[in-house]
Amino acid sequence: MRSLLFVPGDSERKLEKGFSSAADVLLIDLEDSVSPQNKAAARTLAADVIRSRRGETKAAIYVRVNDFASGLLDDDLRAVISARPDGIMLPKADGLADIERLSAKLRVREAENGLPDGAIRILPIISETAAGVFGASTYGRGNPRLSGVTWGAEDLSAAIGARATRDENGRYTDLFRLARSFTLLAASAAETAAIDTVFVNFRDSDGLRSECLEAERDGFTGKMAIHPDQVAVINEAFTPSPEALSEARMVIEAFAAAGNPGVVGIGGKMFDRPHLRRAERLLARVKIG
Ligand code: COA
Ligand code: MG
Repeated sequence: MRSLLFVPGDSERKLEKGFSSAADVLLIDLEDSVSPQNKAAARTLAADVIRSRRGETKAAIYVRVNDFASGLLDDDLRAVISARPDGIMLPKADGLADIERLSAKLRVREAENGLPDGAIRILPIISETAAGVFGASTYGRGNPRLSGVTWGAEDLSAAIGARATRDENGRYTDLFRLARSFTLLAASAAETAAIDTVFVNFRDSDGLRSECLEAERDGFTGKMAIHPDQVAVINEAFTPSPEALSEARMVIEAFAAAGNPGVVGIGGKMFDRPHLRRAERLLARVKIG
């Protein structure tokens, strides 16, 4: 999953556009982009659209439900699980205990709907509260439903009372860089994908591109989008280049040819086990798609 496009769950027009986009994942939103008075209608519309249109797209379909504290989550699940989404995005997750709690609810709904146990994956947003940032270390215990972890800056800024998330040069301030870094560490510890947060200036494709390149450099393997125009930029940035792929293959072959030692020399440069792991990870990303 390189690009994950948010689509407000109460907008038929945007849902239509979303299904014809080239995003790897559609994130049908029942949370922040849907007003309280539209929540019920959005649930019904989301479920209907998944049922009727999923055959039209190769994208995985996730639904972002409301968080545990909202009191809306059970109704969200009741409405959408029968439509068999591929996954649930859980906002304001405070740690692995929240994943285990959601997992228990999903298991019941899967049974009620004749779905295999564990069929529905979970993608949490792990840094939207102070407790969520502190809870990042708990993901290392792992959970088979986790398909990745991602982070959010806006809710965290609201939670702690920061007036801005970025400085005058457009760079995230320390707190948000910390949340971003914890996301990378949590993903690594849980052996799952690290997905970067949204870039809200949807007309600024140069700004988006440079944020994607920075994220890819740092270990993220995908990024969320809020507008269909962002999808192509994200897909391009997170698709490993042919040069990177051929270098990875060369490293793997060199280790194999040398009988899988700890270290090899290729073209006058040392490659040891971390280089091999990095090469294997890069190829794994392409296989998953
Ligand atoms: N998914 C699908 N279609 C979308 C879309 C999205 N996220 N964002 C915009 N579009 C559609 C618009 O409906 C419009 O279609 P139309 O020409 O058929 O009417 C077209 O793309 C162009 O949209 P544009 O005029 O450039 O933007 P806008 O002003 O209509 O919308 C936003 C701007 C920010 C309101 C919109 O992009 C949006 O709703 N994004 C998702 C917000 C969200 O889910 N937030 C929660 C996560 S942070
Ligand atoms: Mg939010």
